[in-house]
Amino acid sequence: MNRTPVVVGNWKMHGSRAANASLISGVLSGVAPRGQRSAEVVVCPPFVYLADLATMLEQAGVGLGAQDVCTEAGQGAFTGEVSAPMLRDVGCTHVIIGHSERRAYYAETDEGVGRKTLAALSAALTPIICVGELLEERDAGLTYEVVGRQLEAVLRALEADPIGLSGLNRCIVAYEPVWAIGTGRTATPEQAQDVHAFIRGLIQSRDARIGGSVRVLYGGSVKPGNARELFGMPDVDGGLIGGASLKAEDFVAIVAATQ
Ligand code: 13P
Repeated sequence: MNRTPVVVGNWKMHGSRAANASLISGVLSGVAPRGQRSAEVVVCPPFVYLADLATMLEQAGVGLGAQDVCTEAGQGAFTGEVSAPMLRDVGCTHVIIGHSERRAYYAETDEGVGRKTLAALSAALTPIICVGELLEERDAGLTYEVVGRQLEAVLRALEADPIGLSGLNRCIVAYEPVWAIGTGRTATPEQAQDVHAFIRGLIQSRDARIGGSVRVLYGGSVKPGNARELFGMPDVDGGLIGGASLKAEDFVAIVAATQ
């Protein structure tokens, strides 16, 4: 199965107008011109900077993603929230959903991740759905159980909605073991491959074709020095990059490692 790799930069809560301008210009001058890239490239700045960057990225053929979205699809009395249609309106193409930092610090639930996925798909955004286990869960041998539970919630939400399981064709899944995020401790390519194959297998058990075509990204301390090895695994279709996406040179090198 030929799947186009994707490299997504999650800036988390970093940036300023000045810093973003120089980071984006470094990224755009470093990646191959649109049409000649071997990978899709997406950057996810904080909400307040999305509109600033939309036109430039659109012209360069680089995707623009938000880092979260409201479960409610329309407008309404949800102070502090941003809806999927609003993200679309300012030029977003993608949205990260269920990042482990949202799950850990902002009480994001599996069910909420399912609802956000539906909201994003309804607004024609590509959800980047994050799953991953804590260190104590891995140590207790619960990796598949945790990742399976997180993913099942999304599959169930899709199946219960008119969108259906085929909505997964428009999603990207990201496996981010929590113990590897920002710690410098990367999963080995074999550890990543094991879980990626599990994720693909779980989807394939529902629908073989969708399971074969869905992109599954690895995230957690991906750097220029380890990206090629990780992306070389058969079920690793690119990366969700935190720290290294804040340095144009590193992010560009990681994009190049998909080749
Ligand atoms: P790091 O690349 O900094 O480990 O972060 C990974 C991540 O959480 C991306 O969403």
